[in-house]
Amino acid sequence: MPAATRLIIDTDTAGDDAFSLLLALRTPGVRFEAVTICNGNVDFNQQAENALYTIEVAGRGGDVPVYLGSARPIMGRWQAAEFHGTDGMSEAGFPKAAQRPHPRHAVDAIVDLVMRNPGQITILAQAPLTNIALAYLMEPRIAAAVKHLWIMGGTDNDVGNITPAAEFNFFIDPEAAKIVFDAGFPITLSTWTLTLKSGSLAADDVARIAALDTPLSRFFMTVSRVPRERALARYGAAISTHPDSLTCACLLNEGLILESADAVVDVEAAGELTRGLSSIYPPRLVERWPDRDANARIIRTADTRGFADMLAAVLK
Ligand code: BDR
Ligand code: CA
Repeated sequence: MPAATRLIIDTDTAGDDAFSLLLALRTPGVRFEAVTICNGNVDFNQQAENALYTIEVAGRGGDVPVYLGSARPIMGRWQAAEFHGTDGMSEAGFPKAAQRPHPRHAVDAIVDLVMRNPGQITILAQAPLTNIALAYLMEPRIAAAVKHLWIMGGTDNDVGNITPAAEFNFFIDPEAAKIVFDAGFPITLSTWTLTLKSGSLAADDVARIAALDTPLSRFFMTVSRVPRERALARYGAAISTHPDSLTCACLLNEGLILESADAVVDVEAAGELTRGLSSIYPPRLVERWPDRDANARIIRTADTRGFADMLAAVLK
């Protein structure tokens, strides 16, 4: 039997973050070690409630500890995105889950899990990178001890979703992103550019999920309502965007990755217009930094149909 994937998800749970948690909670062969909460989408404690409720809805209440991390970015000011509604769950008004956050700090939990299990723990970072950067600053050996770090953030030198230059996760804490990409982690990066290309479900995929009419498909329809409305207003198409859950799906099934490339990734932490911009280029092709080696694998295309099928399967 293949070894289970031992997973930590670092998340600012709102909208699609929750669907990523559902994929990990309901895919066989995942040993889900921890959920760690980072500043990001909405109010920090609300994000923790959203994660706890998602675990309960998946029928896994009490199985996966939820640790609270850094409620603010390293340098920047926290600013709500509210792309997913003020509660992050499309104003669903869900009740509080019975499970409560673990008393330990998320950064301690990350360092401890990785250092006690060298080469075994995979981390999915689907929020600003504050917790991961702090964990690295506290214990730099985690960069070599982690099995793999999957990151959702940045754009592939394309237009952002929070400013023209930047994607939300990197914009909120670019200093943290810079620290993480300079640290030597084995990284796979899934960008907002990839989300628009391969991680956006069309109206008929959403209708297929609605037609399942299960508790989890109803959860999906409720939680994705506001972002679907916003996507329609922003992109002129009735799509449902899945940055975090597409990344989780690729982690759980690398066969979904159709095209990727090794690249040098850097993050702009200064600049009035460019703060949070991700600079991505093939090693040795630019004049200014000829010696820099690739520090990440960038996913360029993923299997949208395979992703939609995987998501629908866990919502059944
Ligand atoms: C990222 O920002 C957040 O709104 C989402 O949760 C996702 O992690 C997409 O830019
Ligand atoms: Ca997120």
